[in-house]
Amino acid sequence: MRFHVLTLFPDAFRDPLEYSMLALALQRGLVSIDVTDIRDYSHDPHHTADDYQFGGGHGMVLKPEPVFEATEAALSGYSEAEREEIPIILFTPQGEVLTQRVVEELVQAPALAMICAHYAGIDNRVPEFLATREISLGDFVLTGGELPAMALIDAVSRLVPGVIGSPENVAEDSISSGLLQHPLYTRPAEFQGMEAPEILLSGHHANIEKWRREQSLQRTLERRPDLLPKADLSPDDLKYLKTLGYKQPKTPE
Ligand SMILES: C[S@@+](CC[C@H](N)C(=O)[O-])C[C@H]1O[C@@H](n2cnc3c(N)ncnc32)[C@H](O)[C@@H]1O
Repeated sequence: MRFHVLTLFPDAFRDPLEYSMLALALQRGLVSIDVTDIRDYSHDPHHTADDYQFGGGHGMVLKPEPVFEATEAALSGYSEAEREEIPIILFTPQGEVLTQRVVEELVQAPALAMICAHYAGIDNRVPEFLATREISLGDFVLTGGELPAMALIDAVSRLVPGVIGSPENVAEDSISSGLLQHPLYTRPAEFQGMEAPEILLSGHHANIEKWRREQSLQRTLERRPDLLPKADLSPDDLKYLKTLGYKQPKTPE
């Protein structure tokens, strides 16, 4: 997967993505991150990339010309046909909220272009005529699109084959599996009087699996009941959830 980031702050990407599994993925060529400085495509002597808002208002707005030009330059190595397959993402609190479903969709693309705005935002001709998708990290406002870009790079990279050791890990993750994951424990079995559940040390795999499934169902019911109607639940799951007071919503005819 090739990521093309367009930003006014290329240094922001220097260290955060170069450790742990992503560092290995970069070294092994499973992913590549190409960062373009939008300011390099501003042609006035001061490399100005922002300007005052038409109509007045607080804060500066990212100009359209350097953003269009920087995006064109970043994607110039692709053929016309390849370009059609590459989403051009604009990060904005006004976009669709990033979910695992969106991440699963985006990993199918050959590459992603990501525009990070800053200040008061970006000239509306960018979302209107250049970006093909607007994505929000959630209902809060950040100073720029750099952190959303890093979050998306990380989330998409985890789904690139070979980045995470075993694909089962990814399938068992919260949300990806449709439920929240069961609690995890490791050694020591007892720490300052706090004990890991005995069942996990029993070696009885069927009982462990049952316990994990029930914990997962219980957590989801307590913390994210909205996930349950869409989850793949067996008759046993539903029976267990019923003992916890879950009422299965009626499916529309
Ligand atoms: C201070 S924000 C501007 C918000 C803009 N004035 C508005 O009301 O929509 C600056 C930039 O940070 C990025 N940003 C801020 N919050 C974000 C979020 N929740 N998700 C994605 N990007 C965000 C966007 O690129 C945005 O243009």
